[in-house]
Amino acid sequence: MNVVGIMNGTSIDGVDFVLCSASDKSFRFRASSSVKFPPLLRKRLVQAAENKMSIGDLAILHNDLGSFYAKTLQAIKTKKKWKFHLVGMHGQTVFHDSGRASLQIGEPSYVQQKLNVPVVSDFRSADIAAGGEGAPLACIFHRHLKELFQLNHIAFHNLGGISNLTYFYSAKEISFDTGPANLLMDLYCQKYLKKAFDRNGQVASKGLQDAKLIQQMMRHPYFKKKAPKTCGREEFGESFFKKYERSLKALGHANALATLSHFTAFSIAKAYKDLLPKLPDEILFSGGGAKNQYLLDAVAYYLPEVEISTTKEISWEPQHIEAAAFAYLAYACYQGKAVDSRNFTGAKNKVVLGKITK
Ligand SMILES: Nc1ncnc2c1ncn2[C@@H]1O[C@H](COP(=O)(O)OP(=O)(O)O)[C@@H](O)[C@H]1O
Ligand SMILES: [Mg+2]
Repeated sequence: MNVVGIMNGTSIDGVDFVLCSASDKSFRFRASSSVKFPPLLRKRLVQAAENKMSIGDLAILHNDLGSFYAKTLQAIKTKKKWKFHLVGMHGQTVFHDSGRASLQIGEPSYVQQKLNVPVVSDFRSADIAAGGEGAPLACIFHRHLKELFQLNHIAFHNLGGISNLTYFYSAKEISFDTGPANLLMDLYCQKYLKKAFDRNGQVASKGLQDAKLIQQMMRHPYFKKKAPKTCGREEFGESFFKKYERSLKALGHANALATLSHFTAFSIAKAYKDLLPKLPDEILFSGGGAKNQYLLDAVAYYLPEVEISTTKEISWEPQHIEAAAFAYLAYACYQGKAVDSRNFTGAKNKVVLGKITK
């Protein structure tokens, strides 16, 4: 069965569509396509994610986003001749309170009707109802990759807006958010450089980090919390950025971006050192941030004992992992298979994740 995973995370940069083929024995990458959000839709999604929208406007955005997914996927299907039988649609997270509620918008009926295939969505509610935090879920796919490639003592680490790790060591499975990944760097670029992000860390690589400012930013209570823990725009979005904006700007663009990159890298390294029983042998990075060599070099600088790589090592493009994870979970849901998220989310039992619109 061919399954399309549709994913957009906290960066709200655009949507990743990944076509995979799934069977009981294998799960393989077939093709992918990424599409940027039109500026106005992006603006509304950011507003919603920052809880700055009325319920009425949110309801309309829910349908408009569903309709955008449907139109875009239809165009990809026609142009690239994709054939598929199922869609896994994560939707845009607009609210997440761990263990209480997690709301993803994007109405699945549009995709179901336009493409005439069943659509799995709302992956997180069942986990919460089973006593879990509702996140993270991509680690179930990381576990699949770990087993397939027979890896041990390894971490999968996604660098989207937020930075998230999944750690495997013997029977241990640990997953949590370490803090920001690209969110703050993106905010700086968008405001002062009129760019969506710092491509390959080009600007940051011309600067020097300000250690004092990094220390100040590291005082955020999130870094002292025990794992498992999750964070989002609430902790490391606009309000965090505003707090340090003047100090950053005073450094000049290159130094400001070097400082934010090193802050991200330092907070990642600290999480590995403080919150895991032992450092992994290797980290496989994924997500858009895995394309930022300056950022990966900074992580390597703070974690010299660990081999720093990307999921390319196991023949997966870093940008495809998250969308593929939701294609993988959609396939499990469609089979009626309960998945084991207990170690990752704290769910009390195995549970079927997602709802099917057909
Ligand atoms: N070539 C690149 N160089 C540096 N950063 C990049 C590059 N490509 C993507 N990114 C970063 O990755 C982010 C998007 O990553 P993504 O994995 O899509 O995150 P999310 O899951 O939050 O949508 C962008 O906002 C940008 O900061
Ligand atoms: Mg994205």
